[in-house]
Amino acid sequence: MSGHADPIPMTARAAAPLAGVAEVPGDKSISHRALILGALSVGRTRISGLLEGQDVLDTAKAMRAFGAEVTRHSPGSWEVHGVGVGGFAEPADVIDCGNSGTGVRLIMGAMATSPITATFTGDASLRKRPMGRVTDPLALFGARAYGRAGGRLPMTIVGAADPLPVRYTVPVPSAQVKSAVLLAGLNAPGETVVIEREPTRDHSERMLAGFGARLTVADAPEGRIITLTGQPELRPQDVAVPRDPSSAAFPVCAALIVPGSDILVPGVSQNPTRNGLFTTLLEMGADITFENPRTEGGEPVADLRVRFSALTGIEVPPERAASQIDEYPILAAVAACAEGVTVMRGVKELRVKESDRIDAMARGLEVCGVRVEEDEDTLIVHGMGAGGVPGGATCTTHLDHRIAMSFLVLGLASRRPITVDDGAPIATSFPVFEGLMAGLGARIERGAA
Ligand code: S3P
Repeated sequence: MSGHADPIPMTARAAAPLAGVAEVPGDKSISHRALILGALSVGRTRISGLLEGQDVLDTAKAMRAFGAEVTRHSPGSWEVHGVGVGGFAEPADVIDCGNSGTGVRLIMGAMATSPITATFTGDASLRKRPMGRVTDPLALFGARAYGRAGGRLPMTIVGAADPLPVRYTVPVPSAQVKSAVLLAGLNAPGETVVIEREPTRDHSERMLAGFGARLTVADAPEGRIITLTGQPELRPQDVAVPRDPSSAAFPVCAALIVPGSDILVPGVSQNPTRNGLFTTLLEMGADITFENPRTEGGEPVADLRVRFSALTGIEVPPERAASQIDEYPILAAVAACAEGVTVMRGVKELRVKESDRIDAMARGLEVCGVRVEEDEDTLIVHGMGAGGVPGGATCTTHLDHRIAMSFLVLGLASRRPITVDDGAPIATSFPVFEGLMAGLGARIERGAA
């Protein structure tokens, strides 16, 4: 959806303690992968709990354009009739991935080893993001990419007619790049090997194995080595998408900083490639208990009981960055409500997300009265203690859902209201955010203060 929805200013203000149960929607990463792997299987994949955010809806539409039959039966309940590995048809029109880096990069990988051509575009945010990190390894398979300067969308990918298998060390910590290479490797003969120096979210590996691909993962001195045997017949699956820990982060953090709060957030993934934020919050002194641990949709999950906590700033270990990469904006908001300084190093990947998230958080925190320091790879927040953030400002969200939600959560705990210029992008990942937060007692309204 690259057409601009009208901006929706939204304002958050302090209210009573938060209470109740926050059932967050399905995981965005797993939802994209379920649709794509369903499309690459022969036969019917059933998906329950699919996130119906705009990013995922755009991927569903793209899978139809490549020839899969994708049907929605009821909320969250979808069916994909796939065309099999190597079965993608050439799309008749441009593929518009809207705001979604995951969507465009994974789909580019999935089509790059078929003898078809596709042109991709996205919204103003996605058209600024680097695609070379994906098209470089896809070129090794024999695919060609023709994009704008700097490897930007719109971009046409000419898939390889006779793909070669690839051995590739991912130069940046990125699950999207890793996944694009693995998906391309599906239709290449022989073994495709991906090496990642730092582990990133492993949903692609788990799900490829679940769909019947031959895939091994080994830890070696140079990193995690993932070996995929090409040209498998993927078997359709029933996929139960677990709830999204990156969405759970917003009510969890809201409860930690709004005095008197006590909430339950059920079914939050404890996958070690995704749960860095919860470790960080515990180190800051958060009162979070992990109840009823179990497995849902192949992921380890627990119910999180979260109570308001007096937090202390910490130095976040840089090696934890990949496991909480999407959570730095809300962590920066929480850090503003902690006593002392929170230091976040090794975070330069934040500069190429839906927005430059270091810059967006730094500028927004500053207008809310919080001292920050930054360099290319670092964000430092000088906490003002519980209830200490002045607020009374408007923050710019730059088409970035997580920036919008982070400042709205901060507004629940600041002295004066915080407005975001545009909350419309929240619908890309967390379409029920407003209703869910209202159900906990939060005061988040449309319009300026
Ligand atoms: C994702 C990977 C991460 C993350 C994004 C989802 C995925 O991006 O930020 O929200 O589903 O693979 P990078 O691969 O750019 O780190």
